[in-house]
Amino acid sequence: MMNKLPVFIDCDPGADDIIALLLGMNMPELDIVGISTLCGNVEAPKTYVNALKTVGVAGKNIPVYKGAETPMTRELYTAKDVHGNDGMAGLSDTIAAPDVSEEKEKAWDAIYREAKKYNGELTLVAVGPMTNVAIALAKYKELASLLKQIVIMGGSAAYGNVTPAAEFNIYVDPEAADVLFKSGANIVMFGLDVTEQAILLPEEIEKIGQMTSPQAKFCYSILKNTEDFYLSKGFAGNCMHDPCTVMYLAYPELFSGKKAGICVETKARITRGKTVCDMFTDVKFGFENALVMMDVNRDGFGEKIIEIMSRY
Ligand code: RIB
Ligand code: CA
Repeated sequence: MMNKLPVFIDCDPGADDIIALLLGMNMPELDIVGISTLCGNVEAPKTYVNALKTVGVAGKNIPVYKGAETPMTRELYTAKDVHGNDGMAGLSDTIAAPDVSEEKEKAWDAIYREAKKYNGELTLVAVGPMTNVAIALAKYKELASLLKQIVIMGGSAAYGNVTPAAEFNIYVDPEAADVLFKSGANIVMFGLDVTEQAILLPEEIEKIGQMTSPQAKFCYSILKNTEDFYLSKGFAGNCMHDPCTVMYLAYPELFSGKKAGICVETKARITRGKTVCDMFTDVKFGFENALVMMDVNRDGFGEKIIEIMSRY
């Protein structure tokens, strides 16, 4: 009998967040014990509803907890050009919200409660801005050591996608990311270096389109409604940024990376939100606070995503 890995996912759905949730909820290797949401790709009320609806489509009974409605100190910067005004690639009105009562516990309190319950075995996945994570780490000093690991989609060793310097999740709340990288937690970082390699090709998307389950149809619609954005940027297909995290937890052999030092720029204007990485420099920070993932077996990644979606 396989020991399932207990996982808590913090997200800002968001098209690729939704794909990550659909995949993670259909992996026998993982036990998704909770989901929390926050502002990011779109405003917090929408990301919350999108997570609820995605759990409903998957036919699961996983609690969804509300989190931050703004970054810690800055104005919210959204990504509606990628994810649509509804954050669900224009599909939100076509997906019914499940009839579940609203969880009153806030995201950061739920993360801590579950971390204590699993006593060192819980993995926190964070695929939106790091605001909920930072609040949890600041409120509960022992949280960093209580978690098995924090696996994030965010940053990069080299470049950005909001500015030449900064990736979206870090750009939106640099101060929160700074708290995370200084926390001492066991961090695995999926930055753009690897997530922009983790492409789902048009022909692979069409294989999902041939599947008949409601979950696969939902996944296909999300992918098709965002495909033009990625193709217009010169990618060979859809960048599966957030899915890299759950795919790593279940199939780590698909990825490779190196420990490195990461510091977050919070003061500058031009390089706001840059994750400065010492992987490629002879001058080092003197600490290695993250496992920075750099490569993916792209064909194996694509094949596995199709196989997981076919299981619904
Ligand atoms: O830069 C990509 C990240 O920003 C992904 O998490 C996407 O969902 C957006 O939040
Ligand atoms: Ca996201």
